[in-house]
Amino acid sequence: MRKKIVAGNWKMNTLPAEGVELAENIRADRNQVCSCVNFIVCPPFTHLGGVIEALRGSDIEVGAQNCAAEDKGAYTGEVSAAMLAALGCRYVILGHSERRQYYGETSATLNKKMAQAFANGLQPIYCVGENLEEREAGRHFEVVKTQIEEVIYNLTPAQFARTVIAYEPVWAIGTGKTATAEQAQEIHAYIRTILREKFGAAADETPILYGGSCKPSNAPELFAKEDVDGGLIGGAALKAADFLAIGKGFPQK
Ligand code: PGA
Repeated sequence: MRKKIVAGNWKMNTLPAEGVELAENIRADRNQVCSCVNFIVCPPFTHLGGVIEALRGSDIEVGAQNCAAEDKGAYTGEVSAAMLAALGCRYVILGHSERRQYYGETSATLNKKMAQAFANGLQPIYCVGENLEEREAGRHFEVVKTQIEEVIYNLTPAQFARTVIAYEPVWAIGTGKTATAEQAQEIHAYIRTILREKFGAAADETPILYGGSCKPSNAPELFAKEDVDGGLIGGAALKAADFLAIGKGFPQK
């Protein structure tokens, strides 16, 4: 049985005290959702210490939204995976489309960041996804395949076993336009097939999350699909009630 995951990507939103309050509100009502759902929150770097403190002793995990490609040294403005791990982060989002698009992250950079994450015991949430132009040209399978092959194929089996994948079509992020459940299932199944080609049956254990305008109203339809194991949530992760309600979207078994 694959892990069910709802991860919140807060992006560059909330001030530190607001972030702590959001974490406290999520914690307060977390028991309204099945304990079988794994919740992860990914606040900005500046909030991590306070949020980790606010969630201590709960089962809600904390992740960062990025980490440095180098281990330490003269890299002004960067935050290392070791620093994140020392604070108590367990996850790190890597390769988000906003990082690829606005900060020029390439597969070469991401290979280094993945190595840093693993060397420090962090589990990556590795994001893939095509933009609108690529989708309209029918190139989405090819784009996602390249993003997987250039980075995920370099992992050892032990590293792969600790990896979470997030499929986020760029045209659905923050646009209110969600991929249909059928579109999500089609590409999630494809991603699992290419993972299986390299890692065999281990790919059946990999959580593949959907991201892009996922909210309480569309989560049940998306999460009902065989290869959709949860969501990476942006906007709707900023309200505790919505974030938790998304966790109620998994099919009852
Ligand atoms: P969204 O963002 O839910 O606001 O579309 C998702 C993401 O970019 O992780």
